[in-house]
Amino acid sequence: MDVARAKLRAARRVAVLTGAGVSAESGIPTFRGSGGLWEGFRPGELATPQAYARDPDKVWRWYAWRYRQVMAAEPNRAHYLLVELEEKKGDGFLLVTQNVDGLHARAGSRRLVELHGNITRARCESCGKRRQLPPANEFAPPPFCDSCGDRMRPDVVWFGEFLDAALLAQVEGAFGGAEAALVIGTSAVVEPAASLGRLAKSAGAYLIEINPEPTPLSPLADLSLRAKASRGLRALIQQ
Ligand code: OAD
Repeated sequence: MDVARAKLRAARRVAVLTGAGVSAESGIPTFRGSGGLWEGFRPGELATPQAYARDPDKVWRWYAWRYRQVMAAEPNRAHYLLVELEEKKGDGFLLVTQNVDGLHARAGSRRLVELHGNITRARCESCGKRRQLPPANEFAPPPFCDSCGDRMRPDVVWFGEFLDAALLAQVEGAFGGAEAALVIGTSAVVEPAASLGRLAKSAGAYLIEINPEPTPLSPLADLSLRAKASRGLRALIQQ
C-alpha cells in the first residue's frame, strides 16, 4: 500500500477508469452480479440499436426510470476524492468513465471523458443535436428535437455501436502514456474500456485496481485493493 501511495503521489500523468461500482455507494445499481441491472433486464432488449428500433417506447421507459433514479442520487465520497486527485495532478490527469449517470461531472470532475455517453441527455435521431433532458419530474419520453422536430434517443452508446474515434484515441493516449493508472469499480469485461488497464500496464504504468471482487484485471495489477471505491481511494490518496 505504501508503494502504491508513493507511486501515485509521484506520478505526473495519471489515468483513471471507473465503472458502475463507483456509483454503487450513491445507491445506483451496478449491471452485473447479484442485484445488478442485468439480472432483471436483458441488454439485448434495452441497450442495442435493434431493441430501440423494435420498441422505442419500452427502451425510453427504461432510460426514463434510470434517469429519475440518477437525478434522485448524489455523488459519493469516491466521486469527490477523484476531483481532489484531479486538482492535485492538473493537466496530467484524465478520468474516463463508463458510467452514464453524470455523477462525476456533478461532483466537479472536469478532465473527464464519458465513454458511454450520458443518460441525462438526448440526441436527435435525424440531425444529431443533443440536449439536456427536462427536470426528471417533468420528463415524459420520448423527447423531440427543438431544431428539426424529430424524435430523440438517449445519448448513450449501446452494445454494437462504435465509440467516437477521436474520444477513443484521446483515452488510449492517456492510458498508454500514464505513469499510474487506476481502475475502479468495473468488472472489466466490456471492451474497449476493459483493455485500458492492460494498455497502461504494458506501457509501463503502475496499475492499481479498486474493487471488492476480483476481476480479469486483478492478476495484472500491481495492487488490487479489495475495497469499496470510497474506502480504497481514501486509503490511496488521503494523508
Ligand atoms: P459492472 O456491473 O459490470 O461491474 C461493476 C463492478 O463494480 C463489479 O466488478 C463490482 O464488484 C464492483 N463494485 C460493486 N460495488 C462496488 C463499490 N462500492 N466500490 C467499487 N466497486 C464496486 O459495471 P461496469 O463494469 O461499469 O454498458 O459495466 C461496463 C458496461 O457494461 C456498462 O457501462 C454498461 C454495461 O452493460 C452499456 O450499457 C453499453
